[in-house]
Amino acid sequence: MTDGVTLRAHKGTLMPLSIGVIGSGTVGQVLAAGYAGKGHAVTIGTRSPEKLAAWQQAHPGVKVDSVASAAGADIVFIAVAGHAAIEAVALAGTALAGKVVIDACNPISGPPVNGFLPYFTGPNDSLMERLQNQAPAARFVKAFSCVGNAHMIDPSFPGGRPTMFICGNDPAAKAAVTTLLDEVGWDAEDVGSVEMARAIEPLCQLWCATGFLGRGWNHAFKLVRTS
Ligand SMILES: NC(=O)c1ccc[n+]([C@@H]2O[C@H](COP(=O)([O-])OP(=O)(O)OC[C@H]3O[C@@H](n4cnc5c(N)ncnc54)[C@H](OP(=O)(O)O)[C@@H]3O)[C@@H](O)[C@H]2O)c1
Repeated sequence: MTDGVTLRAHKGTLMPLSIGVIGSGTVGQVLAAGYAGKGHAVTIGTRSPEKLAAWQQAHPGVKVDSVASAAGADIVFIAVAGHAAIEAVALAGTALAGKVVIDACNPISGPPVNGFLPYFTGPNDSLMERLQNQAPAARFVKAFSCVGNAHMIDPSFPGGRPTMFICGNDPAAKAAVTTLLDEVGWDAEDVGSVEMARAIEPLCQLWCATGFLGRGWNHAFKLVRTS
């Protein structure tokens, strides 16, 4: 199966895509502004576009519209509160069928307890599996869930490009997301099928732990290996 990204990649640079970002919080704003800054046509989808009026004025390259409008883009990000992800996918409806859908959400259920962020999913379960089951024709890929929003776009670390672990059932969708990650400064590491979200989503708990221990929020994961 082909898709917009693989079709439009040319000499290492992506031709402009239409990108929808369902999510009006900090992550939605950062991803939308970041990909708009790379030349893509980005629409943020929210139930309440008016709440981003001031932000939109400061980011004229991003359109702010309904969830349905964002879901109509070539590539769609889901970046909503974990407890709202099922509802957001329901609002997007059949527009997600066949699309690459990038899931940046974490199933956080409450504040940290002794530095550990509780999840509403269990160890043999994940939020992205629930979303994939809900919208089986969408081509979900987990990405961006295990790093703070300040480092999502063009991260700069002394150790070089960090690693974004990704997973999903559709190889072409993962290839597309690998290209999109590369465009904003990340090396993707494909770790397998949608079930691997059970391992990727807890990376957020690990990423946050060092922050809760007072070591700041300026870190990211990097996979190192010998050849
Ligand atoms: N903050 C970070 O640095 C970071 C890093 C990695 C991953 N994440 C994950 O990214 C996601 C977004 O995080 P965030 O901090 O940007 O925002 P957030 O405050 O967790 O979520 C805001 C979004 O959730 C939506 N929402 C809330 N309740 C809803 C409901 N009942 N139905 C539909 N939508 C609802 C809002 O939609 P409306 O616009 O329609 O109101 C809004 O778009 C979360 O899952 C988070 O765990 C966050």
